[in-house]
Amino acid sequence: MTAFNREAALEQVRRIVGYIEKPELTKDEKDTIVKESIANFNENVNPGWLEYRKSVSTDAAFVEWTDSVDHFEDLYGNEFIDCLGGFGIYTCGHRNPEILKTVKAQLDRYALHSQELVDPLRGYLANTLAKITPGDLQYCFFTNGGAEAVEMALKLARLATGGRWYISTVGAFHGKSLGAISMGGKGAYREDYLPMIQQVQHVEYGNAEAMEVAIKNLQTVGEKVAGVIIEPIQGEAGVIIPPDGYLTKVREICDKYGVAMILDEIQTGMGRCGTMWRCEHEGVTPDIMTYGKAFGGGIMPITGIIARPNMWGQKLIDNPWILGSPTFGGNPLACSAALATIKFMLENDVPKMAKEKGDYFMVKLNALKEKYPTVLKAIRGAGLLICMEFPEAEVGYEITKGLFSRKIMTAGTLVNAKTVRIEPPAVLSYEKIDHVMAMLEESIIDAKKEFNL
Ligand SMILES: Cc1ncc(COP(=O)(O)O)c(C=O)c1O
Repeated sequence: MTAFNREAALEQVRRIVGYIEKPELTKDEKDTIVKESIANFNENVNPGWLEYRKSVSTDAAFVEWTDSVDHFEDLYGNEFIDCLGGFGIYTCGHRNPEILKTVKAQLDRYALHSQELVDPLRGYLANTLAKITPGDLQYCFFTNGGAEAVEMALKLARLATGGRWYISTVGAFHGKSLGAISMGGKGAYREDYLPMIQQVQHVEYGNAEAMEVAIKNLQTVGEKVAGVIIEPIQGEAGVIIPPDGYLTKVREICDKYGVAMILDEIQTGMGRCGTMWRCEHEGVTPDIMTYGKAFGGGIMPITGIIARPNMWGQKLIDNPWILGSPTFGGNPLACSAALATIKFMLENDVPKMAKEKGDYFMVKLNALKEKYPTVLKAIRGAGLLICMEFPEAEVGYEITKGLFSRKIMTAGTLVNAKTVRIEPPAVLSYEKIDHVMAMLEESIIDAKKEFNL
């Protein structure tokens, strides 16, 4: 086979574009897509992918094709209730009709920006964000992915303080670009890429004293710390909630030593934990805050940072490109999605929805924990960022598989495989929550038998 096969590529893209544009596929077409998707993943994505995802792809026949409100559908119309929420992106639901309407209207006008003229939606979004974030957070910089936002936060901390060092936490997850993974708190994701940013110290999460000691020691030996970076709740580590007062203490420490406080609200923000931002729980304003995931309404990828004026120095004002200049960052289509998302969240009080439904889940989950203490070891959560902890990773995996066979999608967390998350859209109905809980109990009973617990 020649590497460059124009005829085959053209025939293929014509056929696939046809599938995308066709309202209804035939049975043969669906079968073809399933067969070809498996082959494509094995040959051109990663031969390990389907195996790695085996709890949800053993038969490999579940090819997602559409979604709506609280579920995904495969090609054959099998519906899967979404209790994973795309790792937190679907807080407003799947293809929320109101957000979609705005994005389609923007798409019909213009999608991407000239890079030179003033693109109004970027300005409106930045201005709106300043109105819905704590304290004097003011200046925004928009990016495309979470890790990219973290990169900007790290760079801004150095630019603003002149410091070079960062303090991060064990178990942290901030993304997988080289800077972000330098802050990461799990060895397996870091080892192959060492050395990365060298000026990082990891301290125990939830321990403000350890953070202060690290900063103090560095400063004593003549080093200067640029920033501390923390998640207000460690999501990927298995929903680790720090002791009350932790963020307040970290704020005080940062003020004392002239260090930028970076709060990574990529997963915890935008209503997920029952308030618009998790830092509201302690009334703390960070110097730099990152956001992403649910920010684009589950329709467009858009992430970014917002910073206080003390972080936005003259050097950056004189040369706005010095921080970054991502071609697609803050593009009109993505901004239209974020603006419509904020509108939907404020009009419908999505944070309150997440809080009430999260509390409802917690009551039921705690009842299950009482009933099956050898299987369900712990429940942690705030709003709809919830996780269940099992005795071993294999048990968690079996539960995930059991739920999937009952048409409910969940997954483990990236840093801690013993924990399985419940992170559904806030628009999931109480009726569906009851159904999820019934299916969870069935899966727990199966696992209890299988593992002799
Ligand atoms: C707290 C936090 N920061 C950063 C990221 C990275 O975001 P992305 O996967 O969009 O790069 C994640 C993703 O899970 C996250 O949870």
